[in-house]
Amino acid sequence: MRAYYFDNIPGDQRLPHDYVPSRPVSNATLSAINVKYWTIPVVDHEPKIDALAKEQGYKNRDLINVSKEGMGEIYEQKLKTFFEEHMHEDEEIRYVLSGSGFFDVRETPTDEWIRLAVEPGDLLVIPAGIYHRFTLDERNKIQAMRLFQDEPKWIPHNRSDETEVNPHRVDYLRSIGVGA
Ligand SMILES: [Fe+2]
Repeated sequence: MRAYYFDNIPGDQRLPHDYVPSRPVSNATLSAINVKYWTIPVVDHEPKIDALAKEQGYKNRDLINVSKEGMGEIYEQKLKTFFEEHMHEDEEIRYVLSGSGFFDVRETPTDEWIRLAVEPGDLLVIPAGIYHRFTLDERNKIQAMRLFQDEPKWIPHNRSDETEVNPHRVDYLRSIGVGA
């Protein structure tokens, strides 16, 4: 997984949007905003995913295909929704099996977008309460495993005055040492 600051230049969200020269984001910076990731090769991934899921308490999982073929009519609408800046009240855990895409996460307190270019073998944990969004890249296709503890609470709460006072947002800010 490559991590770098998003250049904020208007245009196709599926393009890399890498600054020239690129501004890479370090693992320390990702840790500071509580974004976690592991690399688990896709070949023979099952036992390793099982072990990690057990250790982290992820009891359930399913598969999602984000592509025109995989989603049919709701594809365009879904892509728009995924790219709205939002938060969840639960972790968003994704293990990429094939294809690729971009998760953008908001760095606080700078309010800069950090772009995470994910590819097969990347297991990414986006914490509850962080603002983020997702887009496919120019390959237009990703297949990922979604892991979750119990019932997934993936309702997207789009960034607003309300989300600023959402307890999960407040807890998140506290966990990274920002805010009261
Ligand atoms: Fe999300």
